[in-house]
Amino acid sequence: MARWRIDDIPDLTGKVAIVTGGNAGLGFRSALELAKKRANVVIGCRRVDAGKEAVKTIQNAAPGAEIECLQLDLTDLESVCEFANTFKSKFDRLDILINNAAVVNAETLQHTKDGHEIHMATNHYGHFALAKRLFSRLVDTPNARVVTLSSGANRVGEIRFDDMDWRQREYDRVKSYGDSKLANLLFTVALQKRFEEAGSSALSVAAHPGLTATERQQTVGVGGWFTTAIASPVETGVAPQLRAATDPNVRKGEYYGPRFGLRGGPVPAQPKGKAVDAELAEELWQYTENLVG
Ligand SMILES: NC(=O)c1ccc[n+]([C@@H]2O[C@H](COP(=O)([O-])OP(=O)(O)OC[C@H]3O[C@@H](n4cnc5c(N)ncnc54)[C@H](OP(=O)(O)O)[C@@H]3O)[C@@H](O)[C@H]2O)c1
Repeated sequence: MARWRIDDIPDLTGKVAIVTGGNAGLGFRSALELAKKRANVVIGCRRVDAGKEAVKTIQNAAPGAEIECLQLDLTDLESVCEFANTFKSKFDRLDILINNAAVVNAETLQHTKDGHEIHMATNHYGHFALAKRLFSRLVDTPNARVVTLSSGANRVGEIRFDDMDWRQREYDRVKSYGDSKLANLLFTVALQKRFEEAGSSALSVAAHPGLTATERQQTVGVGGWFTTAIASPVETGVAPQLRAATDPNVRKGEYYGPRFGLRGGPVPAQPKGKAVDAELAEELWQYTENLVG
């Protein structure tokens, strides 16, 4: 298919999808588009009120939509377990998992109650813990898909096993976000390996939205006027993650993003360099498994 559009999402009747951070920004838009195509959608939200509001808005926009919100705080292992257990008690399949939620460019150095730096904890450890607890559903569902959101910021990231929580380095918000987004790509590689070892048809792929004018991106991201001037609206910026989640032509190892880097139609690319370093991906998997596995 030369040009992929959101209208190209196939009918998803009978499929079950989870979108983390489904109450806002790209997560909300992903949930809406999947629900419109008749997937049964669960949004994982740390603020249940905001999640319920999003569910209501989606049901109004897509009458008959099968959508619900379950509480999910990715920085809290107990919450992740409870989310996964509740989901598994309700659904015996999981076709699409979009690891979308994120903390982006936190102004100050923050640690979770377990002492982990907030970007890495939310964006990587939380999604790792979630995927581990949903692994059996993914493996057992034919052609399941896990889409993990990264960002161009992965290029400034590094995996500093000696200082994952930024206690030795001077805090840099862009770099610590970049570290977590590099971790997201390495996780994508290592998860694909786990699916293959399990003999599953599930795919683990990555996506990024270029620069998309979500509400928060305009305040905590690259910045106000710049974002407004050149970013994609959410309606189109969401296309790479939706294509990665639903296009039957998606292949393992692909990383979907806008054609022109920051904006444009969704196209596959191959991540390069440290983002596909299999040895580093394994080391990070083991490290994370010891922490939250
Ligand atoms: N927008 C861009 O230009 C851009 C560029 C590159 C990559 N990305 C990536 O695209 C994804 C979506 O970005 P966005 O712009 O839509 O972000 P956003 O508007 O800031 O939304 C982030 C979502 O993550 C949720 N979240 C934050 N911490 C959480 C936690 N501890 N547990 C559960 N959920 C949590 C937020 O919930 P609350 O509402 O409760 O805070 C919100 O629903 C992210 O992975 C981001 O890194 C975005």
